[in-house]
Amino acid sequence: MADKLIIFDTTLRDGEQSPGASMTREEKLRIAKQLEKLRVDVIEAGFAASSNGDFEAVRAIADAIKDSTVCSLARANDRDISRAAEALKGAKSMRIHTFMATSALHMEKKLRMTPEQVYEQVKLAVRFARKFTDNVEFSPEDASRSDPDFLCRVLEAAIAEGATTINIPDTVGYTTPEEYVRLLHYLREHTPGIERVVLSVHCHDDLGMATANTLAAVQAGAGQVEVTINGIGERAGNTSLEEVVMALRTRRDVFGDLVPHIVTEQLVPTSRLVSRATGIVVPPNKAVVGANAFAHEAGIHQDGMLKHRDTYEIMTPQSVGWDASRLVLGKHSGRAGFRARLAELGYADLSRERVDELYQRFIDLTDRKKVVTNADLVAIVEEGLQPVADRYVLTGWRAHSGSDGRAEAWVKLNVDGVERETSATGNGQIDALFRAIDKLVPGGCELEAFHIDAITPGQDAQGSVQVRLKCGEQVYNGRGVATDIVEASVRAYLAALNRTTISAEVTV
Ligand code: KIV
Ligand code: ZN
Repeated sequence: MADKLIIFDTTLRDGEQSPGASMTREEKLRIAKQLEKLRVDVIEAGFAASSNGDFEAVRAIADAIKDSTVCSLARANDRDISRAAEALKGAKSMRIHTFMATSALHMEKKLRMTPEQVYEQVKLAVRFARKFTDNVEFSPEDASRSDPDFLCRVLEAAIAEGATTINIPDTVGYTTPEEYVRLLHYLREHTPGIERVVLSVHCHDDLGMATANTLAAVQAGAGQVEVTINGIGERAGNTSLEEVVMALRTRRDVFGDLVPHIVTEQLVPTSRLVSRATGIVVPPNKAVVGANAFAHEAGIHQDGMLKHRDTYEIMTPQSVGWDASRLVLGKHSGRAGFRARLAELGYADLSRERVDELYQRFIDLTDRKKVVTNADLVAIVEEGLQPVADRYVLTGWRAHSGSDGRAEAWVKLNVDGVERETSATGNGQIDALFRAIDKLVPGGCELEAFHIDAITPGQDAQGSVQVRLKCGEQVYNGRGVATDIVEASVRAYLAALNRTTISAEVTV
């Protein structure tokens, strides 16, 4: 096994390919900074040639990140590779990741190229990428369904042209741990030069085996794992970072100390940030970062836990960043203490005006909620960080409903600086409010997803609502936080509508 495992995070590239998970440049930048805090080694920031928006996001991340290598994906052609290099120009440490399919199925049906043409194209692409950097990764897409001998030939050529990392993707989540390990051994034994490069693995979760396949590959000597936060990604997703990292940490007896650099206490905050930005809710039973990951329901388990927590807990909630610590600030706390707490929570660079606004929301919250936790505070900060042009601002609302199922709502908005109000009826209060907003803000969007969560336990918990709107081909997420779930819903709906006013990306 390797002495230290390279953690390559592709949340911002493969993760963003999850259905409905589009992120703005600002959101991607915030996630990249959080990944840097988590101390991942490589951040795949996007696919620079795929759109102007992606290019700008990769560029912004490359310019901002200092401690992790920043990478862009590129198809195996000169245009994609030059775009990636251009976007990465400002990076302290950069990598170009180029790929081309090598399975018979992909070559024939998708690329419509012969194996010989693919072989030649890979050589040209890696050679071209090396003109910009000496850190080049090559991925033979659909490797796990490729002919192993052809794969060895292509990899040998990629290495000879200067690839420094060779990644073996299980693109469609088809392989099994034993089969994947067998393939890695075969490639090791039959590819000249492979001992000079880092061997990487990249798994998808179509059969629920991504983490198992990745860990088996680590035991077989893989030096890099490609993962995403919350396991988001194409179709059923990618291998989840938090599962792999915590499996390696918890089972040092099996794997050794391979990820000493990862700040595991940042796992839950990172998971939440990604969930909020993408609108993809983390299932409560998700390992490590799900709300129930450390909840003990059965009496026998609770009894065991009280006697000795190791009976049913293999890692501590604190070690992965579950923090229930209470905010010692109260209603009468001053701004200085409030600002200091924001800094402790990672929000040191907010403007004075923003801190003033947040302080007011915090004081309002203390009127409604007995105990304000760090989680509550993070929620109001994050809600305000949604990168929206505030064209539609909520200034008042009222709603009531009765046992006949009919609800009436009134809403007042500031639309482009002008106060407007209207009423509507609907099937429940939230529906009536959304209908009233639709009268003031004609967007022609459909509500595609609606999700309510409690941020902290207790009757006075703040509610968090996540909505996803589909407007034509585009999807917009919005999140609202309030002690009143109806108000949280309205805030979320408006946040998503405000996002529709940000101009659509132009694909190049
Ligand atoms: O799954 C895959 O094959 C990929 C490659 C582009 C690495 O994401
Ligand atoms: Zn992938």
